[in-house]
Amino acid sequence: MSHASYPALRLRRTRATPWSRALHREIAVSPADLIWPLFVTEGENVEEPIASLPGVSRWCTKGIAARAREAVALGIPAIALFPNTQPERRDPMGREALNPDNLMCRAIRAIKDAVGNDVGVLTDVALDPYTSHGQDGLIDAAGYVLNDETAEVLVAQSLNQAAAGADIIAPSDMMDGRVGLIRAALEQAGHRNVQIMSYAAKYASAFYGPFRDAVGSSGLLKGDKKTYQMDPANAEEALREVALDLAEGADTVMVKPGLPYLDVVLRVKQTFQVPVFAYQVSGEYAMIEHAVAAGAADRDAMVLETLTAFKRAGCSGVLTYHAAHAARLLGA
Ligand code: PBG
Repeated sequence: MSHASYPALRLRRTRATPWSRALHREIAVSPADLIWPLFVTEGENVEEPIASLPGVSRWCTKGIAARAREAVALGIPAIALFPNTQPERRDPMGREALNPDNLMCRAIRAIKDAVGNDVGVLTDVALDPYTSHGQDGLIDAAGYVLNDETAEVLVAQSLNQAAAGADIIAPSDMMDGRVGLIRAALEQAGHRNVQIMSYAAKYASAFYGPFRDAVGSSGLLKGDKKTYQMDPANAEEALREVALDLAEGADTVMVKPGLPYLDVVLRVKQTFQVPVFAYQVSGEYAMIEHAVAAGAADRDAMVLETLTAFKRAGCSGVLTYHAAHAARLLGA
């Protein structure tokens, strides 16, 4: 191997001008890479700012429909929905998840009424916005989250969302075997083109705090989610999770959180050659916003740099609370 070296080769040569940097750029971020997570709340003409997520609000279903129109105008292809269920509608079994008229289903219908198929609707499957204990599934007397019993409820929750018009079912619960059960049930119910994006490698992370405020589960949750979400120390295990979810019929897989787990994104992409998405989660968003508020960072530059990093690592797309802002920066 004879490669030229300095002074014949100067890597700074191609960086010297904007046109040359543009020409040599290896990847590009576009609004089409973004999925916009939105929080839904009850009421009419309601916007509730979320203190721990500065700049993010919960919206009533009418507000959600308006955000969907905004997404279309900005070229954002999909929205992810998370409900802040009223406290009196939460119970130990998370039964509200199966109500065909719950907040989630009404938000899905509001989006479809407003923009039809101009935007895809991704719905979170897990019971934490509906349980009075804040865990993602059914618990036994000791507080242990039961796998198979929970998976059965998640299947019913998925069918409920699909019936309301969800385009992508996104199980975020980390129960074993649920992707296969959900796929089979969707097929049987005739929802052949409803996709599954599994939160395949989802870690028990300290970066979810603001999200739990946003869906109102933080005050309810006792303990942690370490018996089902993954240990941040494990990457090989992430590949096993992804292999299982793909075998069970997941169309696409997700890694979550995002930036601290780019090594996992890269390994999943290189191992499986399937579409990989990352969730730049609430704590990651808050870190940027608090740094900006403290005068320690340039928001626009950080948003674009982090999105570039996700794409460089192999992501097909990114769930980010900065989606609308990023799409504006990217000049939809
Ligand atoms: C629910 C769910 C969580 C997130 C997405 N779906 C929270 C959790 O697992 O505790 C976190 C998203 C974020 O922090 O932005 N299972």
